[in-house]
Amino acid sequence: MEITAVQGDITEQQVDAVVNAANRAMRGGGGVDGAIHRAGGPAVLEDCRRRFPHGLATGDAGWTTAGEMPARWVIHVVGPNRNAGETDRSLLTSCYARALEVADELGARTVAFPLVSAGVYGWPKDDAIACALEVFRAAETQVEEARLVAFDAATYERIAAQL
Ligand code: AR6
Repeated sequence: MEITAVQGDITEQQVDAVVNAANRAMRGGGGVDGAIHRAGGPAVLEDCRRRFPHGLATGDAGWTTAGEMPARWVIHVVGPNRNAGETDRSLLTSCYARALEVADELGARTVAFPLVSAGVYGWPKDDAIACALEVFRAAETQVEEARLVAFDAATYERIAAQL
């Protein structure tokens, strides 16, 4: 699998699937989650309600339509909320591993990822990057490209330093 990094908005990526940094309720929120629901339109929330009536566990992943975005699917993951005392790193690496498993179930070959937990949930950015890269480098998957999307230039530089 090729690991790439770009600076930009994840909702605009021309990939098979974009990954959402959601929360356990799976009913939308701020950050990447808000951007994905805005860009995807109401079909994303409708699909979340239908497919995840009881939400999603921390560290787990599941998919919905991507609605009006260029991608075909959204793979939702729930990262650990460090600000609420969830400091178990395996919950964060699990998000990336589970997202790749769901991508394989879907047949998605190109997948764009945000830095899960590195915003509102307070995970230190460099370790959030390390978690993603560790999982990508060890992954046995049919996914051909895992693209890390940095929202700003400073974050992009930090990803590039670990690539
Ligand atoms: N494209 C790419 N990256 C983005 C975008 C975007 N459009 N918007 C933000 N980022 P966060 P979390 C970056 O807070 O920490 C929501 O309310 C951002 O700069 O979106 O997992 C959910 O509903 C940061 O580096 O996710 C949950 O309640 C990274 O994406 C909670 O926030 C992740 O920041 C999840 O918090």
